[in-house]
Amino acid sequence: MTDTALNGTANINDLPFATDRSRAWRELREAGEAVTSGEEIILTSAAAVEFAAKKPEIFSSARAFDRLGSPVPLIPIAIDPPEHTRFRRMLDPFFSPKKMAEREPELRRQAGELIDAIQAKGHCDVVADLATPFPSQVFLTLFGLPMADRDRLVQWKDSILQFTDPSSAEATPEVLAHAMELFTYLTEHIAERRANTTGNDMLTQLMQNSEEGGMDDNEILGLCFMFVLAGLDTVTSAVGFSLAKLAGDPQLRRRISNDYSLIPAFIEELLRVDGPVPFAPRVTTEEVEVAGRVVPKDTTVMLSYGSADRDPRRYDDADNVHLDSKAVHFAFGRGPHRCLGSHLARLELRIILEEWHTRIPEYSVADGKDPQMPWPTGTMGLKSVPLVFK
Ligand code: HEM
Repeated sequence: MTDTALNGTANINDLPFATDRSRAWRELREAGEAVTSGEEIILTSAAAVEFAAKKPEIFSSARAFDRLGSPVPLIPIAIDPPEHTRFRRMLDPFFSPKKMAEREPELRRQAGELIDAIQAKGHCDVVADLATPFPSQVFLTLFGLPMADRDRLVQWKDSILQFTDPSSAEATPEVLAHAMELFTYLTEHIAERRANTTGNDMLTQLMQNSEEGGMDDNEILGLCFMFVLAGLDTVTSAVGFSLAKLAGDPQLRRRISNDYSLIPAFIEELLRVDGPVPFAPRVTTEEVEVAGRVVPKDTTVMLSYGSADRDPRRYDDADNVHLDSKAVHFAFGRGPHRCLGSHLARLELRIILEEWHTRIPEYSVADGKDPQMPWPTGTMGLKSVPLVFK
């Protein structure tokens, strides 16, 4: 880690992510392993990101999220170990591959319905017609909430992400009103579930879980908020990137269409090359040396999972998707805060890609235009992916 070239500066917002992600990541990496951007330090190499992610006592998530001033505890991202460990021990079983597999038939049916409607039209915007509604339906299904609330949930989610996006301006009254509506909506449903505990949805199960002391209503509310913040746009983005990539690469698309056993490898590599979470924030609790640089206490450090995932010292031909790659990526993070919903995200992506290719094996981007990614943004994702098919 100490053979770093130089630890220079870069203005993240000025890097050409909107037009050429490979170049933007390269330019950031070339600025060094621990780069100054404004008041923050960005860790760019796989080694430096791994080092910081696995030292939560020095690189604190709680202190990073405190600055947001969220009215609900963002569980478990805004909690540091050892308390964090209690939450993860309690929550991990609810999001295990086995638990998620129990939901597969219902989620597959819902994905199939959305894609049937798209197929009948002969064209679509993948982001608006599939990648946005599906993860919201998944959230409502898992928590046993009414499907009729899907579009309201999408609207609330957009507002809250705007609220928490560091690049956005001050929250408008409309944004604050939407955040309040989601807060009230979830609070009411939690209270209703306390009164009626007969369901088998995740909300009821979380309340009945008495191991590790259980979760109180405020903590459950925080987890629901966190799910909305972390589990919707990330999946939307990965679905958009996946279908845009396959639309533009006929050879890869045909391999996938002809052999669904390649889909899990495609998902992992797609997440590595175009992971939705480019940076994760931490604040240092003490002075620390990382990548040959002394970082003072109280510094905001951004762990660039996106940059680490394209580090040529860790991955061969790092900018491209390789179905035979066995390399473990950073797209779900590292260390104790590694994504709680990774098995759910993988399941959602696999279901979408299978159900899509069963119905629509051949497709291309409308007008042959490259889908655009807005920048700067908190979650990386394509704004729209217009596809046409026979
Ligand atoms: C492709 C989709 C997804 C990606 C790429 C992704 C990525 C990530 C990353 C990088 C982190 C670590 C953040 C950090 O180090 O500070 C994280 C944490 C988290 N994710 Fe995901 N995520 C995805 C989907 C989901 C879903 C579907 C859920 C729903 C439950 C979810 C819930 C969470 C939670 C609760 C955390 C915080 C975990 C903790 O602090 O212990 N994510 N995710």
